[in-house]
Amino acid sequence: MSATAVVGLQWGDEAKGKIVDLLTSEHDIVVRYQGGNNAGHTVKFDGETYKLSLMPAGILRDHIVSVVATGVVINPKAFLTELDGIVTRRGPVSPERLRISDRAHVIFPYHLAEEAVLENSRKTEAIGTTMRGIGTCYREKAGRAHAIRVGDLLYPDLLKRRLDEIVAYKNQMLAALDPNFQPFNADAIFAEYSAYTERLKPYICDTTALLHHAIAAKKRLLFEGAQGSLLDLDHGTFPYVTSSSSSGCGIHSGSGVPERTISRMIGIVKAYTTRVGGGPFPTELTCEIGQHIRDVGHEYGTVTGRPRRCGWFDAVVAGYGARISGVDCLSVMLLDVLSGLDELKICEAYELDGERTTDFPSHVEKLAQVKPIFRTLPGWKTDITKVRKLADLPPNARRYVDTIAELLQTRVEIVSVGPDREQTILS
Ligand code: GDP
Ligand code: IMO
Ligand code: MG
Repeated sequence: MSATAVVGLQWGDEAKGKIVDLLTSEHDIVVRYQGGNNAGHTVKFDGETYKLSLMPAGILRDHIVSVVATGVVINPKAFLTELDGIVTRRGPVSPERLRISDRAHVIFPYHLAEEAVLENSRKTEAIGTTMRGIGTCYREKAGRAHAIRVGDLLYPDLLKRRLDEIVAYKNQMLAALDPNFQPFNADAIFAEYSAYTERLKPYICDTTALLHHAIAAKKRLLFEGAQGSLLDLDHGTFPYVTSSSSSGCGIHSGSGVPERTISRMIGIVKAYTTRVGGGPFPTELTCEIGQHIRDVGHEYGTVTGRPRRCGWFDAVVAGYGARISGVDCLSVMLLDVLSGLDELKICEAYELDGERTTDFPSHVEKLAQVKPIFRTLPGWKTDITKVRKLADLPPNARRYVDTIAELLQTRVEIVSVGPDREQTILS
């Protein structure tokens, strides 16, 4: 069995979308297994730009079945708006080409309201979430009592009963926390979500069974990660993380497909580091170099438009991401963004409590204390966006990529030198 997985090894936005799109040509099914419309994956080809959020990148190819699996949280309005946008640009998407898990959880308006109250109350310690109700929906899932799954939408009486109970509870809670809170109306939400359900119905199925049948039929699966390994709820920089298993660890639980099915785990890294939202960031560049990277790399959030925090490549971060996700090879993205800088730095270890370490600290208070130990490398001045062979990269660019491979002890199979499909070096 040969399934492929694409996972981010940093704090998200590593350009996973580009690689998933590239790999669709050799796969039959693309599976999104966690996250929700907090993700923003940009795919460019034939002069067109697509910004995908809940849709697996396979949706852009007619031969691919796109699966939104059990570990995802779905905002039906966002889902249908995105689907409509794709249909307008690329034509109809038949239900056979897009499947949604009946076990996935549903985001409701009170999840967004609750998140706004929570985030605003945390002030300087705010997580800096995308405010899409992701964390509050996952919390409901873990708490069970107030959770609603996609499959529940298909039982109107059940949905009505559940909403009556949940909305009454949420109204009480939110009114106590926010003096300006306007109560939700359970009947209005029921009517709104019943209309969404009518449209979603043809796409809903048991995706776990579908994937097991696909494996038995020797279909080629491609797992598309959202966010990045350092945003993983358990293994990331808690609490400055997202609420799902966004490292490779989440593939099994989020899809119901055993980990051993995956024969190729591709770790995606940016040639530098970015992060959106709060939390320590040891190699962050708050100087003009950081702004230069932000400008050249267009480092502004796809979902929220927030400027991404930029910094040097951190091999302690990416090495940890690679180890928890269990990667076989690397794809180094956005190398072109570093062209023109006189010299480049890569963090190869941290100094913590007077000791040198390449272990990633398990507590954010420790992470906030580390001093990056940098290796300085010479830059390159030439434009590399038209390079298509490793051998044609300037020697210093090659050396930079080799250093990443050496520090992560993992071979680099793909180097990306521009956003377009064509701007890719396969080694
Ligand atoms: P994802 O969330 O991991 O899919 O990444 P995003 O799409 O949020 O962010 C990556 C951004 O970099 C997108 O705007 C891509 O179009 C762009 N991109 C991808 N690869 C390259 C590259 O090699 N060079 C440059 N300059 N941009 C790239
Ligand atoms: P893709 O798939 C970068 C970040 C948010 C915030 C934290 C929690 O495009 O790489 P959430 O709304 O998930 O509760 O926010 O996680 N975050 C991302 N950062 N890329 C993403 O997705 C992200 N999805 C969430 O900025 O810091
Ligand atoms: Mg993104």
